[in-house]
Amino acid sequence: MEFPITRLRRLRRDAVIRRMTAETTVTTGHLIMPLFVRPGTGEKRPIPSMPGAFQWSPDTIAEEAKELAGLGVPAVLLFGIPEHKDSTGSEADSDGAVVCRAIESIKRAAPDLWVITDVCLCEYTDHGHCGVIKPDRRGRPDVDNDATLERLASESLAHAQAGADMVAPSDMMDGRVGHIRTELDGAGFCDTPIMAYSAKYASAFYGPFRDAAESPPQFGDRRTYQMDPPNAREAIREMELDLAEGADILMVKPALAYLDVLHRASIEFDTPLAAYNVSGEYSMVKAAAAQGWIDEKQAAIEILTAIRRAGASLILTYWAKDFARWR
Ligand code: PBG
Repeated sequence: MEFPITRLRRLRRDAVIRRMTAETTVTTGHLIMPLFVRPGTGEKRPIPSMPGAFQWSPDTIAEEAKELAGLGVPAVLLFGIPEHKDSTGSEADSDGAVVCRAIESIKRAAPDLWVITDVCLCEYTDHGHCGVIKPDRRGRPDVDNDATLERLASESLAHAQAGADMVAPSDMMDGRVGHIRTELDGAGFCDTPIMAYSAKYASAFYGPFRDAAESPPQFGDRRTYQMDPPNAREAIREMELDLAEGADILMVKPALAYLDVLHRASIEFDTPLAAYNVSGEYSMVKAAAAQGWIDEKQAAIEILTAIRRAGASLILTYWAKDFARWR
């Protein structure tokens, strides 16, 4: 034949050559499993909007953690759902905070599993916002950035003291990474890294999560602190700031609708990048699969591959356990 041909592409019918020439790999070792913990014992409550995900209690979560570790999943990300919510989210860092109890029980059951904690107030506040509220100049309720920083630093320290391997602030307040870093260093936790939700967009894809964490905002929305979907350069700015304040891993969230942002970040920064394959991205596939309209396993692997191809080092995904079993 006179023309160059793409012989390799045709040869990829053969799995060996397909594997040898793959530009992107996804392994269980790249994945972090988010888990929800609530007070009580013996709990394993299904989350209706997220089939296959559960709210655990500190005792049952240890069993799940052990199973995940046995499957080779390297890390979990914990979200806490408190007994009572109030205006300042006091159960986020109270004595016996549910996340702290879960950390201790996971560490007993699976000492090598990395325990990362989500640091935010929205699960703990009765108004469902990620920070403390005070009236703005016109008397309307607004999130108070600086008052929130104190709460987040205290929550981070509580998690570190309970044994968390890394903290992950997801609130998007300005200056929180630096504030948390100072607090942790001051208490001797210099080696506890921070994975910052840096480019976190105000997204409809968090819908199912707010069911899971029982945290929809009771008024307004999160647009005054989360990013606006049309903006990508602004995401780079947010990441630069977090890096300068001491973030060790930068995150883009959600993943699928923001693969361009992830790719840009991978060119711009030399730090590890995490991408959060969020609840809505998971539940869409689950819902379509339940109708028989899509093959869940194939779709999930394709999604995770795309996220890695775009530049993510790590992926937070509700498919982590399934993926480990599929391999
Ligand atoms: C808390 C937080 C949210 C998610 C992670 N941390 C919700 C939100 O900001 O509204 C979303 C995770 C998901 O949808 O899977 N601030």
